[in-house]
Amino acid sequence: MREGKPSKTALKVATIIVALGAKPDADQILNPGLLEATEDLLLASGVLGEKALRWTKTQRMVSIYEAFDWMLPGQFQAIGERKVFCEHQVRDAISAGATQILVLGAGFDTMGWRLAPEFPHVSFFEIDHPATARPKAKGIAAMGQRDNLFLIPSDLGNRKLIDTLAANNSWRSDAQSIIVAEGLLMYLPGDAVVDLFSQCAAVSGAKSRIIFTYIPASTDGRLDVGKWTGLVLWLQKITGEPWLWSMQPKNLTSFLAELGWKNDPVLEGGAGRHGAELYTVATKEI
Ligand SMILES: C[S@@+](CC[C@H](N)C(=O)[O-])C[C@H]1O[C@@H](n2cnc3c(N)ncnc32)[C@H](O)[C@@H]1O
Repeated sequence: MREGKPSKTALKVATIIVALGAKPDADQILNPGLLEATEDLLLASGVLGEKALRWTKTQRMVSIYEAFDWMLPGQFQAIGERKVFCEHQVRDAISAGATQILVLGAGFDTMGWRLAPEFPHVSFFEIDHPATARPKAKGIAAMGQRDNLFLIPSDLGNRKLIDTLAANNSWRSDAQSIIVAEGLLMYLPGDAVVDLFSQCAAVSGAKSRIIFTYIPASTDGRLDVGKWTGLVLWLQKITGEPWLWSMQPKNLTSFLAELGWKNDPVLEGGAGRHGAELYTVATKEI
């Protein structure tokens, strides 16, 4: 991550949402309200100007993103599918009794801000590195605070999740919770991912769920996003946010079980590969 600067990849995800909004079938790709909220947040947080936003919404920009799909087929639209998957899972888990939502590495995601008024009995929490959480908080303040949305700046590389949440009076470790790690785990070293899953189990109550996306590894254990893997990894590295962690799908169930989670394909709803990633839900084992 670039020192003191908002995450480039978080900005990229949000601008891709805006660009997807320029496609003729946008309303079939994106959740209602997602596009407008993302545009407002990018402007209000000061990470994108009016001119850049207008440019992002052009057909030319859509063509550029679609052209780059040669490297990672389906990746442009997959970002929209990822948001739909996470929101669907969060709504499903709220229906099943969850009262806390925690989004890790939230970036410029707007789910908490959009869902907070719809579910006033649910508390929404977001954690991100201070360099990204700071502009996000500025944007949310301008768009309208939510009483049940808590933005927590914390570098999870330096401070444990358990300690970060213990310092927040509103978080309850015995509550049925949903933890979302969307487009995050690939940026963490392997031992940090293991530690994060264990900590997620420790900070959440019975029947909690974790929703996450990950990059698959091939049978030799190496990260695998197809024939251009080497180039993709190099591009990620030069942006300052390298991909570090991946997992062989066949090993996921046993990996999660050791850390207190049960892989729950029944809840998956997003089975199969979407661009570079796989989408997954796991339930806390009591
Ligand atoms: C690819 S972005 C995804 C953003 C968001 N989840 C989404 O999909 O729209 C990865 C996010 O993880 C955050 N992140 C990476 N390392 C982090 C760390 N050590 N502590 C807290 N957040 C981190 C970045 O700041 C960034 O917002």
